[in-house]
Amino acid sequence: MLKYLIEGGNKLNGEVKISGSKNASLPILAASILNPNPVTFYNVPDIEDVNTTLKILKILGCKVTRKCDKITISCKKVNSYEIPKELMNKSRSTVILAGAIIGRLNQVTFSNPGGCNIGKRPIDLHLEAFQKMGITVIKGLNEVKCYSLVGVKGAKIILKFPSVGATENIILASVYASGTTYIYNAAMEPEIVDLAKCLNSMGANIKGAGTSKIIIRGVNKLHSCSYTVMPDRIETGTFLCIAMATKSKLHLKNVNANDLLSVILKLQEMGAKIAIKDNEIFINASSEKIKAINIITKPYPGFPTDMQPIFASLLTKASGKSKIEETIFENRFGFCDELRKMNAKIVKNGNSIQITGVRELTPSRVKCLDLRAGAALVLAALSTTGVTEIDNVEHILRGYENLDEKLRKIGANIKLISD
Ligand code: UD1
Repeated sequence: MLKYLIEGGNKLNGEVKISGSKNASLPILAASILNPNPVTFYNVPDIEDVNTTLKILKILGCKVTRKCDKITISCKKVNSYEIPKELMNKSRSTVILAGAIIGRLNQVTFSNPGGCNIGKRPIDLHLEAFQKMGITVIKGLNEVKCYSLVGVKGAKIILKFPSVGATENIILASVYASGTTYIYNAAMEPEIVDLAKCLNSMGANIKGAGTSKIIIRGVNKLHSCSYTVMPDRIETGTFLCIAMATKSKLHLKNVNANDLLSVILKLQEMGAKIAIKDNEIFINASSEKIKAINIITKPYPGFPTDMQPIFASLLTKASGKSKIEETIFENRFGFCDELRKMNAKIVKNGNSIQITGVRELTPSRVKCLDLRAGAALVLAALSTTGVTEIDNVEHILRGYENLDEKLRKIGANIKLISD
């Protein structure tokens, strides 16, 4: 077990280089399965979710080489259509490998991903879309088998909800499909645009990514490519919130501010001074009081659910009452119990919480329940005088690259230790 020991209260100052996006890297790595030629990706973060995906690719028969943020993958021959259960259980996002495997081999078997700490997370939309594409889906108690004897067919798919994972799985499954696939009510997240750009750079024919209607015309072959993964917008938002919570000045590099306008607007509403220049963001929160605000999470371009726990943590120190309504995941307030251990004043009511700001939180021993809940606790600890102990930091390592090292460089007192 890994834990952070954080002695909070320091003002932070300096530059942070934001890593490549976790949520874009995972479908892009999955896309390599479709391509029999070598592909090279840059700006891939060194995080556990990426490591898990790479382990699965190797088991499937892909050759993987990695040097810092550069990963080269060669999937000349894919030997297996089964996603190993023990690795699939490590990260739910591995479900998007299914679309790529079926796109390449016309069959895939994987374990039922099941629920997690933030909700039930069904995959019905993924599987209904596969069926529309002529794929037979057999759902067992623990396993899902998908196959098509005649190959994947283009289809018109209307998603009941703009699911990010379902949109990615459909795109991956339809790259080689016969005919054209239309996705209506598609997710519009920047990571979908990144996946489509990457696949198009291999020779796929995908139009409309970033809008609610995506059109994929099936192609016969893909070629080699080099592609640079987009910056991680949630890591960017996390550092902006940390600056605000610790009344600091930070300069974030390798970012794309356009991908996080809803987050920047909320921080400005809270009083942050933010300047944007090309791929850099400067935040100066050194003399700001944090104003209470209201937030409703929505699919992109709305306020991202992944930032919700981190904003909730920040708002525990705002002056006045804030309200957050969570509309994407049904169980994403578990972290509030941990923040209450630090004397945060949070009341839950259905899918909303009301937060009454307090002057100071109290250091305590708390534990991460999931990735973003963990980041919320790091923020709380950094802004609280005294030593906070955060258990189960493995969740954070799934999605933030060298978080402790990046924080130490800007003046935080944080240690990663094993229990
Ligand atoms: C992705 C992101 C995650 C982010 C989320 C929403 C990755 C690796 N993860 O997750 O960080 O929080 O988007 O922006 O990119 N749903 C169904 N049936 C389905 C699929 C989804 O009911 O078949 C529901 C989910 O339970 C959830 C909502 O739709 O309530 C959103 O899920 P989805 O957009 O699919 O999120 P993920 O792709 O899992």
